[in-house]
Amino acid sequence: MRPERLGGEAEAHPMRIAFLNPQGNFDPRNSYLASHPDFGGQLVYVREVARTLGKMGHRADIVTRRIVDANWPEFASETDAYPGHENVRILRVPCGPDRFLPKEELWPYMGEWAEGVARLYRAERSWPTLWTGHYADGGLAAALLEEASGTPFTFTGHSLGAWKLDFLLQRDPDALAEVDARYNFGARIQAERAAMARSAVIVTNSAAERREQYHHPAYRDATDVEDDRRFAVIPPGVNFDIFAPGARSPREEETRARIRGAHERDIDPGRRSLPAVIAWSRLDPKKNHGALVEAFARHPELRDRANLIIITRGLDDPLRDPDSAPEEERPVLRALISEVERSNLWGCISAFSLSGQTTLAALYRWGTATGGVFCLPAEYEPFGMTVVEAMAVGLPVVATRNGGPRETTDGGRAGLLADPRDPDDIAEQLLRLLSDGETWQAYADRGRQHARARHNWRRTAESYLRLSAEAARGERKGDPSFPLPEFVRHRAGLPRLRSWELSTGQRQKG
Ligand code: F6P
Repeated sequence: MRPERLGGEAEAHPMRIAFLNPQGNFDPRNSYLASHPDFGGQLVYVREVARTLGKMGHRADIVTRRIVDANWPEFASETDAYPGHENVRILRVPCGPDRFLPKEELWPYMGEWAEGVARLYRAERSWPTLWTGHYADGGLAAALLEEASGTPFTFTGHSLGAWKLDFLLQRDPDALAEVDARYNFGARIQAERAAMARSAVIVTNSAAERREQYHHPAYRDATDVEDDRRFAVIPPGVNFDIFAPGARSPREEETRARIRGAHERDIDPGRRSLPAVIAWSRLDPKKNHGALVEAFARHPELRDRANLIIITRGLDDPLRDPDSAPEEERPVLRALISEVERSNLWGCISAFSLSGQTTLAALYRWGTATGGVFCLPAEYEPFGMTVVEAMAVGLPVVATRNGGPRETTDGGRAGLLADPRDPDDIAEQLLRLLSDGETWQAYADRGRQHARARHNWRRTAESYLRLSAEAARGERKGDPSFPLPEFVRHRAGLPRLRSWELSTGQRQKG
């Protein structure tokens, strides 16, 4: 696509920033947040940055895919809005079939989607001031739209394919052809490389994400992790109206009643007043719930001091009814159940469903009142928003030492870090908090203060505005000669990976 000038281009003030998210479709209620792998933290991130820009008097468009599918009725209309946020639009652009498609199946339609987005702005006779591409698909679309409009773009990867592929191949080294066919890693990695190289700047949530995730050999000639002009570390914020010790959710009582009900169903009567160790993340092998269950299995002292509460969205009693879970979650559940059986953890563990940010905040407040702990034992966590949200409420955390939590806990000062591969270490860190009230209180206070000082959406939004200005002045620029993938340039078939060398990677580093 060739750059075009459109009459009546957006003025510098107020700015209009377009957030490109072909996947993880947006609706005002975030209806599927955390209930499907394509509806994770990216939704909260984009919505909050966009709404904050809107409150600051700028305009923000969240551009996503239009779906006309009876099973996903929230995404059928062309436009949508968040009540009370008149500067923010949700714009839906169709591509490929009408029905919902998981993000891995969107690649053949990315050129069509970007053309649809360009058509939409041409009809309005105004390009945005900045495109921001989110995840590989949004990054690729942004690169295409930069060609069409001449407007620069930033790339926020959220999660990078090479690491996910490494992770899957560590579990089964012979699975390359199978996992590539299923997840289209060849296309994703080409898209990521083009987005990295062509973007004016790459936005990461943490310095660890920049140093470790982007250092993967698959990206080496697409970006240079040592080059400060190529990267901007912009920590995401927390919604302190929701995640605060004194806040009250309209669903506070209902949430507590739900937790009480689950306790009465699952926890032995004599244990119901014990503190809670709370885990909340998708049932994905990467999230490593197994190590936490094993920590409880191996350490009677931990069982004496706390119950384990696993929150799963959409599943009411997954430890007794694993078949109610989506197929991809069942292996994780089955492994957890066999450990619970083997170590007879029944009566100490409860798993049930809660959803929505206000409900989670209410859960964290309840956890704080029990003297409990939030635990994220993921193998690697690029950022770990849930850790920061728990800290903001005053619930002390034990989080994986691999990835973002190292920074979000201020190097372990505002929350404890554990080796996710070592259930004994997880137990030890949990016990440091659970067995000493003063230590618990010190981490609760430091966690809350640190979250408030560092994770503020206004700062995040201001950083995007700064990048937009720097890109407009040409102080940040990408390499427009870096090749775009053939599958989008010439509508060729999707590329297949013929070989893959496992990176020894930094993810195992302590
Ligand atoms: O929401 C956070 C997020 O990183 C999304 O960007 C993406 O949909 C998902 O979680 C991770 O995807 P993947 O497992 O394919 O890396």
